Amino acid sequence: MKYLIILAAAIVAVAAQAPKNRATSSTTTTGKPLAPKLASPTPKPGDFALNLTFVLTGKSIPTKDSNSKVDGYVQVFSKTGAAEEVLVGTTDTLKDNDNPEWLNVFWINWKRGTQQKLHFIIKDHDTLGKDDDVGEVTIDVDQYVDKNQDLKVPLVPEGGELLIKRTQPTRFQLYARNVPHKDQFNGKSDPYVEVYWRVGKEGADHLIGSTAIINDEENPDWKETFEFSNYQKGTNQYLFFKVLDSDALTGSDFLGELLVEADPYVTKRATKITKLTKGDGITTLGITPV
Ligand SMILES: *[C@@H]1O[C@H](CO)[C@@H](O)[C@H](O)[C@H]1NC(C)=O
Repeated sequence: MKYLIILAAAIVAVAAQAPKNRATSSTTTTGKPLAPKLASPTPKPGDFALNLTFVLTGKSIPTKDSNSKVDGYVQVFSKTGAAEEVLVGTTDTLKDNDNPEWLNVFWINWKRGTQQKLHFIIKDHDTLGKDDDVGEVTIDVDQYVDKNQDLKVPLVPEGGELLIKRTQPTRFQLYARNVPHKDQFNGKSDPYVEVYWRVGKEGADHLIGSTAIINDEENPDWKETFEFSNYQKGTNQYLFFKVLDSDALTGSDFLGELLVEADPYVTKRATKITKLTKGDGITTLGITPV
């Protein structure tokens, strides 16, 4: 719901800017060149309305609490031109960590030359009293895009840094073939898949989502589309799939798993069919980019 409101605000903001932006295109419909009226750099092709997705990392975030490190979270606001700023979202709180890597992915619609700003307020969560502001910074979104959507900025007034870095969300669907018959009564399994991502082969798993359970099916095609919104090229990320047989009485049975290196998979953008590991040696999992 929050995002819908922001989207609506962004559309209004974009609509309000429409006449100005038309003036930045190099030709009119009659082919006559138009003088650019804005001081901002000439837009590159495809630069006009981008959906920017990003994550946040803190470095040496200060705290007012003398007993422990910061329990930090960030409020993200966006502002276009003279309009009032709107809340884009808030990260989770990462406890006792002055170098927090927040996993939350934010997105904004960006249009060059509209004086769009992002305002970040870093807070220290306090279980007893009011949460303290421990730093803030405002960035110009055009400049952030010109820095390849990878920007490190100092926080005011007490130091520390915030890194804002783009993600490249990638979507896919799943199917399996030759799921073993594990059900004691009528044979066929009731398979479903849990989908995670991690950094490094042995990294901690972060849940992306689960498929529905498909009853009595050895060749399930799951309908859900999953989005790996934290995908960042070149950061050693993996997708991890756990295939299970749902059983209401005895709990789920493990059927096999699969670890997929994210970069080669995303680069190829082709369906990947792989035999599950730790399974019966026959079951395969298909990952289809959407
Ligand atoms: C921008 O990307 C995010 C992440 O993929 C998505 O959830 C959101 O709907 C997109 N917004 C628009 C306006 O397309």
